[in-house]
Amino acid sequence: MNSRRQFIKNSARAALVAGAVPSLISWAFPQKPVVEVPGEDGMILRSFRFIDLETPVEYFNTWLTPTGHFFVRNHMYEPVELDRGSWRLSIGGEVEKPLTLSWAELSRIESHSVVNTLECAGNGRSLQRPQVPGIQWGKGAVSTARFSGPRLRELLQRAGVKSTGKHVMFRGLDEVPGKVPPFIRSIPIEKALDSDTLVAVQMNGAPLTKHHGFPARALVPGWIGAASCKWLTEIKVLDAEFVGNFMSPAYRFPNQPGKPGDAVKPEDTHPLTALSVKSVIAGPSNDATLKNGRVAVHGAAWAGEADIVKVEISTDGGATWSPARLGRDQSHYAWRLWSYDWKPGKPGDYIVQSRATDNQGRTQPVAPIWNPSGYLYNAIDQVNVHVA
Ligand code: MTE
Repeated sequence: MNSRRQFIKNSARAALVAGAVPSLISWAFPQKPVVEVPGEDGMILRSFRFIDLETPVEYFNTWLTPTGHFFVRNHMYEPVELDRGSWRLSIGGEVEKPLTLSWAELSRIESHSVVNTLECAGNGRSLQRPQVPGIQWGKGAVSTARFSGPRLRELLQRAGVKSTGKHVMFRGLDEVPGKVPPFIRSIPIEKALDSDTLVAVQMNGAPLTKHHGFPARALVPGWIGAASCKWLTEIKVLDAEFVGNFMSPAYRFPNQPGKPGDAVKPEDTHPLTALSVKSVIAGPSNDATLKNGRVAVHGAAWAGEADIVKVEISTDGGATWSPARLGRDQSHYAWRLWSYDWKPGKPGDYIVQSRATDNQGRTQPVAPIWNPSGYLYNAIDQVNVHVA
């Protein structure tokens, strides 16, 4: 291994073990190791090799997720050297005038803001049955932030997309380890030209942090997180979808639902795009013992490019459902917080469930759609609680 790569590896480890006492203790609990990365307190460590941090669902109590509580998903090592002075963004491929923008030039382009719920396609994978390989995310590979930066459309218009331009590819500055294919993906030109698709340079009103793609990232709202390339350095207009590992076989979904455990032929799949309808219970926690009285059941619900219209709660194993109150804060592409005032009445064991419906008429299913990589898990959420 060359010394630069070794250095990168060591830096990733050093970042992870900083504040090492709680993280080392938590290694004893493989289900939920908590890691102390500077500025990322209380996050659940899902991968040690690259930095993959899950947001504990208890943090789903603010509409905008504080950046230090925003989940992190890296397929490779984060870039070591990032400097706005030397950073460049090139726009080429099927365009009339290829461009290269410096940070100063990008900063002069009008900025637009979008509040977006970003969810990793693999969120909830650990709940799939039978179990599937991949990062074993619980429920928290999802967070919400206000992203700001120039519209991608503005940049593409400056370069002049040719009529042959059908897809737009993003490349980031990740440090690619060994034989791993680089993280390169593309989106269709229609989504690239949407007025809410951004080259984001800010998150929650501050410059992007390194974990989230400093100095600039793509922000493809309502779509799986993988569409939003971090540490963006190249935008290329293509005449066809990009061909590469992260377009195929990764991040694809079966055209037809199959039986759990069944293999799916690659030709019977399509690339993942928008997120599903989904809700998650943030409190009470699973296995909590509660005092009898009023219980605040609360959580978040989102639907990608669609809007949440209702969240329902059941406390009797799904026999009856009652509407939850939706939070005031709302924006297209952003989750809605919700709450439900529950009076259990009798002591005992209860199953509390949440079920979201969106304005496309989609409702969370009882069981997720089976797929061998466990993508887009969105079954009705549930916690088991004991009322004392
Ligand atoms: N961009 C690059 N360059 N490299 C990556 O590994 N991971 C993607 C996406 N963009 C990734 C990337 C995935 S799978 C997700 S879910 C989101 O970034 C996560 O964004 P976050 O780490 O800011 O939460």
